Amino acid sequence: MPKKNLTPTTPPRERAFLVGVEVHGQSHLLTLEDSLTELSLLCDTAGLEVVGELTQKMDRPNPVTFIGSGKVEELKALAEDSLAQVIVFDNELSPRHQRELEKHIGENVRILDRTAVILDIFAQHAHTSEGQLQVKLAQSEYFLPRLTGQWTHLARQAGGGAGRSGSVGGVGLRGPGETQLEVDRRAVRHEIAHLKDELEKVRARRMRHRLQRKRSRIPAVVLVGYTNAGKSTLLNRLAKSDIYVADHLFATLDPTTRRVELSGGYQAIFTDTVGFIQKLPTTLVAAFRATLEEIAEADLLLHVVDISHPNAMNQAEAVHETLEEIEAEHVPVITVLNKIDLLSDPAAARSALKHFPQAVAISARSGEGIGDLLGMLRSTLYETFTPILVRLPYQQGQLISLFHEFGQVERLEHGRKGVLIQGRIPGRLVAQFKPWQVKPGGKEKEEEE
Ligand code: GTP
Repeated sequence: MPKKNLTPTTPPRERAFLVGVEVHGQSHLLTLEDSLTELSLLCDTAGLEVVGELTQKMDRPNPVTFIGSGKVEELKALAEDSLAQVIVFDNELSPRHQRELEKHIGENVRILDRTAVILDIFAQHAHTSEGQLQVKLAQSEYFLPRLTGQWTHLARQAGGGAGRSGSVGGVGLRGPGETQLEVDRRAVRHEIAHLKDELEKVRARRMRHRLQRKRSRIPAVVLVGYTNAGKSTLLNRLAKSDIYVADHLFATLDPTTRRVELSGGYQAIFTDTVGFIQKLPTTLVAAFRATLEEIAEADLLLHVVDISHPNAMNQAEAVHETLEEIEAEHVPVITVLNKIDLLSDPAAARSALKHFPQAVAISARSGEGIGDLLGMLRSTLYETFTPILVRLPYQQGQLISLFHEFGQVERLEHGRKGVLIQGRIPGRLVAQFKPWQVKPGGKEKEEEE
C-alpha cells in the first residue's frame, strides 16, 4: 500500500499552544480533555507542533476575550515561555474575540481556532478542482469577517491570495477613499461570488451524473464515518483497489468511486467521502454541499466506526448528528465496526453490535468479517423488501417502471391523480418513493373519491 507522508517537509514546524474551554451547560460529545487530544492531532496533521495547553471551565464566555481576563494574562505568559507562535482555541471564536485576544496577547502570536485548523487541513488535502473550490469557498467565508490589517498565512490562502497588495483577479485597485481593508474585503467578496458560481455548475453536473446512475439501476452505497475510521481501507479491500490510505485525519477529501462485485452477479457503486469530526465547521458543511448531497441520495450508507477507539460511540454519535444536519437520516445504514483486530477483548465488539439496528464487526486490514459484510450488503440492497403504498403521478413514469421492475406489485389502481401501487420494494429504493407514499386507509381513500 503506498504511503505518502503528508507532514510538511519545511522545518521548523510552527509552535502551537492549545486552549480548551468548557462552558457550563453546553453539551459536547467529547470531554474537554478528549476534545483537546483530538485538537492536538488536528494541529499535528496541519503541520503545527503542540507545545502546551491551558484549560478553563466557566459559566459563560467572556464577551470580549472569550476566556477570563486573568486567564488571558496566564495564557500570555505561558505562550511566551513556550515560545509559541500560534495559539489555537478548541472552541469557535468570533472575529471580535480573535481581534481582542490578538490585541491583549501581542501581535507576534497569531490566534486561531479549531475551524481554522480544519480548514487548513482541508486545503492541504483537496486535490481535485471541485475539492479545491469547496475548501476555498469555506476559507473565504470564514476569513471575510476576520480580515484585519494584520495578515496571516492562513488568511492568505483564502480569497486566492488577497494580501497586502489587495489584488485578487485584477479587482483590487483601490477606489477613491477606500482603505486597504475595504479593498481586501471587496476582493474576497468578489472571490466568494465567483466560487459559488463555479460550485453551482459542479452541482448541476453531479445531479446529471446521479440521474444517469439511477437510470443504470446499480445501487449507490456511500461510506461515511469519523475521520480515520478506516473508510478508504475498507473500500480498497472491497474493490481490491489502491486508494490512498494514511494514518492522518482527513486523508480522503475528494470522493472516490468504485464498482464492487457482491457475488451472485450483484454489483454496487461505492463512494468514499470526507471524514466527519465533532464540531465540523458549518462553513465547510455548506461548501461541501455537492459532495454531501451524494450521501443524502445514496441507496445505502456504510457507517464505518473505529471500534478500537476509546471514544468510538461518541464518534458514531457525531456522525449521526452530521447526517441529520445534511438531511440524510432517511437513508438506510449498515454500521461497520472496524479494526476488531486491535481489540484485546473480542466480546467488546459483540456487545457494541447490540447498539445498532444493523451492524457487522470487521477488520478492513485483515479481511475478517468482510464475507459477512458482503452478505449483509447483498441482502439489504437486493433481497430485503419493504411494504409500501404510493400514489405516483403519471409524470413519474420512471418510478412506475422501477416499481414494476424491482418490486412486487400487489395492488394497482389508476386514478385521476396518478397510479396507486401497493406492494413491496427493495429497502434501497424506499427513499426514492418516500415523497409519494400514502398511508393505507387514510388519505388514500379521500383523494381517490
Ligand atoms: P479519513 O480520510 O480521515 O476520512 O480516513 P479513513 O476513514 O478513510 O481511514 P483510512 O482508511 O485512511 O485508515 C486510517 C488508518 O487506520 C490507516 O492507518 C489504516 O491503515 C488504519 N486501518 C484501517 N482499517 C484498519 C483495520 O481494520 N485494522 C487496523 N489495525 N488498522 C486499520
